[in-house]
Amino acid sequence: MNLHSDHPHALPSYLDRNDLGPWGDFLQQVDRVTPYLGKLGRWVETLKRPKRTLIVDVPIHLDDGRVAHYEGYRVQHNTSRGPGKGGVRFHQDVTLSEVMALAAWMSIKNAAVNVPYGGAKGGIRVDPKELTAAELERVTRRYTSEIGLIIGPTKDIPAPDVNTNERVMAWMMDTYSMNIGETATGVVTGKPIDLGGSLGRREATGRGVFIVGQEAARRIGLDIAGARVAIQGFGNVGGVTGKLFAEAGARIVAVQDHAGTVYHPGGIDIPALTRHVASTGSVAGFPHAEALPTDQFWDVECDILVPAALERQITEANAGRIRARMVIEGANGPTTPLADDILNERNVLVIPDVIANAGGVTVSYFEWVQDFSSFFWSEEEINERLAKIMRGAFHTIWQVAEDHKVSLRTATFIVACQRILHARDLRGLYP
Ligand SMILES: NC(=O)c1ccc[n+]([C@@H]2O[C@H](COP(=O)([O-])OP(=O)(O)OC[C@H]3O[C@@H](n4cnc5c(N)ncnc54)[C@H](O)[C@@H]3O)[C@@H](O)[C@H]2O)c1
Repeated sequence: MNLHSDHPHALPSYLDRNDLGPWGDFLQQVDRVTPYLGKLGRWVETLKRPKRTLIVDVPIHLDDGRVAHYEGYRVQHNTSRGPGKGGVRFHQDVTLSEVMALAAWMSIKNAAVNVPYGGAKGGIRVDPKELTAAELERVTRRYTSEIGLIIGPTKDIPAPDVNTNERVMAWMMDTYSMNIGETATGVVTGKPIDLGGSLGRREATGRGVFIVGQEAARRIGLDIAGARVAIQGFGNVGGVTGKLFAEAGARIVAVQDHAGTVYHPGGIDIPALTRHVASTGSVAGFPHAEALPTDQFWDVECDILVPAALERQITEANAGRIRARMVIEGANGPTTPLADDILNERNVLVIPDVIANAGGVTVSYFEWVQDFSSFFWSEEEINERLAKIMRGAFHTIWQVAEDHKVSLRTATFIVACQRILHARDLRGLYP
C-alpha cells in the first residue's frame, strides 16, 4: 500500500503529496461522510481514486506559423451509475488535481440529483483569451480528437465549463462526429439549439442556483424580495443567477470577476452590467457602481453570497469576514473544508456546489435524452422538470441533514455516496 505517514489516504504517485490541491479537499469531504455509509463503507476507497485519467498533448499551429503545445486532461472519476459526465475547462491554471476533484464532484452531483451518470471532467491548460478564434478552434478540435478514445454518447459526455461555451461544444461534436463517420449529437451537451442543444440549457445552472436559494431562504425565513446578494463570477453561472435574483426583487449589491469588483448598496442594474460585460469583457469600469479593491468583496454586507467563479475562494483567511446568512455555491469547490467549518460555526448556511449548481447537468441530461430520441421539448417543460428535480433533491438533502444533524454538504455526500456505492455493490467487481 502506498500510504504516507502524514496522510491517511493512499495517494497516487502522480500528485504532489505536499500540495494535493482541490483533490485534497475532496478526500477530506469523503472522510466526513464515511461514518454514515454503514455497510457500503467497504467500498469507500473506490471514491478516493479516479477510475481513469487521460493526459494528452495538444499541439496546434498558431496563426503566425509557430507550433504551440498545451496540456489536456480527461478524468473519469466513477462510472458505476452510468457514463461519465462533466464539463471541459479552458484555463491557464488547470491542473490534474483540479480536474480530478471536479470529476469527483460530478460523481457526487449526478448521484445527488439522481441522473444516470457517473462523474468526469476535462480541461486544457490554456488561456483562451490569448488565442485567436481560429487557434481556439484548432485547440478544441485536437483536444477532442485526443480524448476521443474515451468519450462518446454512451461512454463519457463533456459539456461547457469555465471559458467554454456552445461554440466550443459545436466544434467538439463536429470533430468527434467526423472521426467516427456519423453525426453523434449526444457526445456533448450544452450545444447550440440548432445542433441538438436543449432550450433552457444555457440558463440551467444559474436557474438551479436560484431555485435552491429560494428553497433554502423559505426554510430560514429570509425574503428574497429585498435580500442583498453578492456574486463572485459574472459568466454563465453568475450572470444568470444575478438576473434571476434581481428579477425576484433581490438587490445585487456586489459583483466581482477576474478583472474587477463593483459595489452598489442600492442594487446594481443587472441588465446594464450584462451589456457592459458583453462589450468590455469584464465588470471593471462599470460606470453606475463603485469600484472596490478585490479583497473587500468578502466584507460586503449581504444576505446571500454566491461564489460563481473558481474553486478555493472562501478559505480560512476570509470565511470569518463573510457577512451573509447563506452561501450558495454556484462554482465548484469554492469553499475549503476549513472554511466550511468556520462558516458552520458562525451559523452561515452553506448550500454546497454538489446540489446548488446541479441544474446545469440536469438539463444536460434532458438534452442527451432529447438527442437520443430526436424529440425536443418546450422550454416550459424543461424548466418545470428542472425545478421539480432540484426541489425534490434539495428536500431530501435537507431532511438527511436534519436527521443526522450534519451540514448540507455532508448530507448531500451521504445521499450521493450511498447511491454510488450501492450501484458499485450491485454490480460487483469485474472480473
Ligand atoms: N457552466 C455550467 O453549466 C456550470 C455548471 C456547474 C458548475 N459550474 C461552475 O461554475 C463556475 C463558473 O463557471 P461558468 O460556466 O460560469 O464560467 P464562465 O467562464 O462563464 O465565467 C467565469 C467567471 O468567473 C470569473 N473569474 C475568473 N477568475 C476569477 C477570479 N480569480 N476572481 C473572480 N472572478 C473570476 C470570470 O471573470 C467570469 O466572470 C465554475 O466553478 C464552474 O465549474 C458551471
